Amino acid sequence: MPDALKVLVDNLLAQHLLTQDEAGVFFQVSAHETNTNTDAAQPISYTPKNVLVTGGAGFIGSHFIRFMLATHPKVMIINFDKLTYAGNLDNIRDVAAQYPDRYTFIQGDIADAPTVGKLLATYPVDTIVNFAAETHVDRSILDAGDFMRTDVLGTRVLLEAVRTHKVARMVQVSTDEVYGSIPEDAFTESSPLAPNSPYAASKAGGDLLARAYHMTYKVPVVITRCSNNYGPFQHPEKLIPLFTTNLLEGKKAPLYGDGLHVRDWLFVGDHCRALNVILTRGVTGEVYNIGGGEQKTNLEITEHILTTLHLDVSRIMQVQDREGHDRRYAIDCTKLRGLGWMPLYRFADALTKTIHWYADNMWWWKKIKNPAFQAYYAQQYDKRSPI
Ligand code: NAD
Ligand code: DAU
Repeated sequence: MPDALKVLVDNLLAQHLLTQDEAGVFFQVSAHETNTNTDAAQPISYTPKNVLVTGGAGFIGSHFIRFMLATHPKVMIINFDKLTYAGNLDNIRDVAAQYPDRYTFIQGDIADAPTVGKLLATYPVDTIVNFAAETHVDRSILDAGDFMRTDVLGTRVLLEAVRTHKVARMVQVSTDEVYGSIPEDAFTESSPLAPNSPYAASKAGGDLLARAYHMTYKVPVVITRCSNNYGPFQHPEKLIPLFTTNLLEGKKAPLYGDGLHVRDWLFVGDHCRALNVILTRGVTGEVYNIGGGEQKTNLEITEHILTTLHLDVSRIMQVQDREGHDRRYAIDCTKLRGLGWMPLYRFADALTKTIHWYADNMWWWKKIKNPAFQAYYAQQYDKRSPI
């Protein structure tokens, strides 16, 4: 750990603002109850009580629920998830066992307005954090239908529900992909939106609807745009888990094009901490960028995975590029840092730990790499000739 970061972490530990256990929240499947708030540098202005988390059986949503239950001792969580191919109750099984009185799972679709309306009429929800989305760029290139339904129309259903039921606060989890690609420097919140994939366009639709509902109806929504996440429980369709699990299975890592596309990586735990800060201290109607500042090429990421698994570059297979592939993402988080947040996980360490997590939890991803996944894989990768 660099000296400056160590001093910061030691200070936070001394002030009981950070617990030794928090790193474990994201790597071990069990979390420790704590009444501390990691990013408590400034006074909390909003206290969530009954939180509807949509898409909480996915990668980031499941970590967010675990984080909120561990760091807000009184919070109640309803996890509303359709359980698409990406939704997985294994991601959250420990939470259901550990917090039976504070956690409820309900299967449902955010685009189903009557069901969402009934839910809000039944439970005293004061807060919504919307993770529910179709999220994989390559799948959106195959067929964008579900992306439009969930990411645009589903977001509208939630915004209408916030408006009708006077929900006190909503966070719309958008993405940095709405900005498109940037050759140098970094996107700020005022950069123009220029989505390049059907996924990014669908997320931009939800993002702009949130803005419009704030401007038109004063709906209390905050919008976040985060860069690429990594960590345990990420679906093995995405770069890091796909390459790691393929290599563990003795297969190759299908690197798109020249492998020099750049992503700005953030450990999922730091994303959850940022969302908590924005939920409790962000200004409604505002957009907040979230990013790790760790800009790496896909080739660098692949080499890190190969080294960690003691494999060599012969296991890389360069294949035909993704259509419309964004060359570079970089995110300026100055605005969020003004709320007292900074990433705490060091990239190299957290990536290595993440790779070990996949190596140690084959039971988790082997269930997902089932015949349906293999059919998707063939559809996606058989057409990509090696280059
Ligand atoms: P994920 O694909 O792992 O999980 C998505 C979850 O949403 C699944 O549990 C799925 O069942 C659920 N879902 C899908 N359609 C639904 C519907 N109609 N109704 C209810 N639930 C539905 O996604 P993730 O990577 O955890 O991403 C979560 C959110 O964060 C998304 O909105 C995504 O756009 C955004 N985001 C992701 C990243 C990243 O790097 N993964 C970065 C920035 C923003
Ligand atoms: O930037 C935030 C976004 O990050 C999120 O909004 C998306 O939901 C999330 O999926 C992610 O999008 P990316 O397209 O950047 O992630 P993905 O893991 O699919 O790809 C990362 C990079 O790796 C990208 O440049 C494409 C490349 N890649 C990906 C796959 C799956 C490969 O080279 N080979 C592959 O097989």
